[in-house]
Amino acid sequence: MSLAGKVAIVTGAARGIGWATAAQLASDGARVVLCDIRAPEGRDMRDGAFEMQGQSALFVQADVGDRSQVENLFRRVDEVFGRVDIVVNNAGINVRKPLIELEVPDVEQVWAVCLWGTFHCAQLGARRMVAQGEGGSIVMISSVHASRAFPNSTAYNGAKAAINQMTRTWAAELATHGIRVNSIEPGWTDTPGERRYYSEDEIREKGKKLPLGRLGRPEEIAGAVSYLVSDRGAYITGSVLRIDGGILLPEPH
Ligand SMILES: NC(=O)c1ccc[n+]([C@@H]2O[C@H](COP(=O)([O-])OP(=O)(O)OC[C@H]3O[C@@H](n4cnc5c(N)ncnc54)[C@H](O)[C@@H]3O)[C@@H](O)[C@H]2O)c1
Repeated sequence: MSLAGKVAIVTGAARGIGWATAAQLASDGARVVLCDIRAPEGRDMRDGAFEMQGQSALFVQADVGDRSQVENLFRRVDEVFGRVDIVVNNAGINVRKPLIELEVPDVEQVWAVCLWGTFHCAQLGARRMVAQGEGGSIVMISSVHASRAFPNSTAYNGAKAAINQMTRTWAAELATHGIRVNSIEPGWTDTPGERRYYSEDEIREKGKKLPLGRLGRPEEIAGAVSYLVSDRGAYITGSVLRIDGGILLPEPH
């Protein structure tokens, strides 16, 4: 699956699904731009430039919820790599509280990253791709929360459902430019974000109760991103691909 010559931006790429996706796209041959509010831990990145899987890579610190920081991200990518072919909107946060306890800033914070962040990066990426005139690919990391209303995640559930509908809208608008837009719904995936809530034992024990007997791995989501953005996914647009180990399946009788 060669992405040689392509430039891919991955948001929320300092760890978890974003890091695994950046590494996968680099090993497919792309030059990757990792955007995050924090630097990847324990990585050596002088001036933001480093090597990933033998490819040139760039780290740009930016909050995707802030339009001017996202504009700066795209300026940096232009200066260093001169093009954008792939955008993976992965950055996302949740504030887990019941509706009754939610404060307005909780909701604003989640929507800033999940909704505005996705919008800013997709719009600036699409503008760049249209100007280049060579097509492109945009992938959203949504969630099974878009399809099932897990309690205590009002802002997150709403944002992820909106992301799926924005995916279809942008796919319809951008198809004539050869730009494909798709979304992935991960199920429960073992990332540093989840480790803030669950211990090793809980992850193992709760994982056993899932249909496939374990949580997903970030690399399993990254593999699907790689497929969607490659030539093998050339006829896929406006789709939502669920990768959840069967978590949304009905219980067997
Ligand atoms: N882990 C799961 O179970 C799971 C399930 C379904 C969907 N997802 C989605 O997958 C994506 C990645 O999740 P993860 O579990 O790897 O998360 P994580 O918390 O392990 O990593 C998320 C990364 O995003 C970065 N980030 C947060 N806010 C940002 C911002 N404003 N601008 C730029 N970067 C920002 C964080 O610094 C972090 O490095 C998210 O969109 C999440 O909603 C995760």
